Amino acid sequence: MATKNIGIIMNGVTGRMGTNQHLVRSILAIREQGGVACGDDVLMPDPILTGRNASKLETLAKKYGGLKWTTDLDEPLGDANYPVFFDASGTLFRKAFVERAVKAGKAIYCEKPTAVTSKEAFDLAKTAEDAGVKNGVVQDKLWLPGIRKLMMLKQQGFFGKILDVRGDFGYWVFPGDVDDQPAQRPSWNYRQEDGGGMVIDMHCHWRYVIDNVIGNVNGVMCHTETLLPERVDESGKTYKCTADDAAYAMFTTDAGVLCQFNSSWVTRVKRDDLFVMQINGTDGSAIAGLRKCWAQDHSATPRPVWNPDIDSPINHYDHWQEVPDACVYDNAFKVQWEMFLKHVAVDAPFRWSLREGAKGVQLAECSLESHKKRAWVDVPKA
Ligand SMILES: NC(=O)c1ccc[n+]([C@@H]2O[C@H](COP(=O)([O-])OP(=O)(O)OC[C@H]3O[C@@H](n4cnc5c(N)ncnc54)[C@H](O)[C@@H]3O)[C@@H](O)[C@H]2O)c1
Repeated sequence: MATKNIGIIMNGVTGRMGTNQHLVRSILAIREQGGVACGDDVLMPDPILTGRNASKLETLAKKYGGLKWTTDLDEPLGDANYPVFFDASGTLFRKAFVERAVKAGKAIYCEKPTAVTSKEAFDLAKTAEDAGVKNGVVQDKLWLPGIRKLMMLKQQGFFGKILDVRGDFGYWVFPGDVDDQPAQRPSWNYRQEDGGGMVIDMHCHWRYVIDNVIGNVNGVMCHTETLLPERVDESGKTYKCTADDAAYAMFTTDAGVLCQFNSSWVTRVKRDDLFVMQINGTDGSAIAGLRKCWAQDHSATPRPVWNPDIDSPINHYDHWQEVPDACVYDNAFKVQWEMFLKHVAVDAPFRWSLREGAKGVQLAECSLESHKKRAWVDVPKA
């Protein structure tokens, strides 16, 4: 097997997602395992870190063994040794960076959301398509073990007819006003003017999760709230929260399945995981967290009788069977990276494109419209 280097420009990777998920757990992990087998060759990612802040880039590059870095993006954009451009910078900067990379003829891979309006997101997809460059958007939740187990059960016909779906996402994000409880998410998430907000962040995920696991989303009814009016930023300054921090939504699919998803950064967790998704079907139900999944078929379903005067004689957790791991589940971001690299190198199929990513932005936009109108909004076919 011959080892072929594949140069990747990694832009905005000094941030939370860029460093942890993309650089360390994906690209460096792929290097550590000896690359990605691809036909008769092995693809070896060869990253260069780009961004605005030289000292942050230098520190990150040093920490991981002297990686290449530059603050002059034009340099690697003009270098044919780097056929791939990846962006994990802030949402509001994505479009301009991606457009520059498309112009330079690079294959594009980037974080979601790809923009904050669906027009921008679909325009960006078209720009890449017209230029004929390969493109993809991170849709990591599809490779979470829990979601994969749900997809496996569906493929096996476990559910019978799917009746409805419930998603419950969230946890308490500290406002940062107490010294020993610093906020665990960047402050821009809570400012609309900086691209923040629960809907634009999470409804992009719910779109591809529902599209792929249940069926195409065609409508939404959504209510949002900004429940904490103030938080404290990274420099200790109190700021006004201008973006939604909770969203209560119902989505419908082409097949008429109602999917009810709550998303909140102001809730305390008493459920199996930070995100759980339950599918109810005529023949069985299953509920998945990030990694685990539990199923209950028709024959194992207990027969509860409403009686609030006694403690429940049924422990409702007892009647679920854990779905065992069916294979080795690698890091979800890394799995998608490996597929994208093969797509670039040998044209392996890869359907999670900028256009698919734009559908997520579209759902977020329709959700906000629904909130404003206090009404159901149809999601146009994309
Ligand atoms: N797939 C997921 O599950 C997931 C989860 C969280 C965030 N995200 C997305 O990832 C992106 C980054 O989010 P994050 O939480 O890592 O935020 P972050 O604030 O930690 O990181 C943002 C990065 O962008 C850099 N940056 C900002 N402006 C820039 C500019 N003009 N030029 C170059 N670099 C610039 C920052 O220095 C930082 O490195 C966002 O678009 C977010 O929506 C995705």
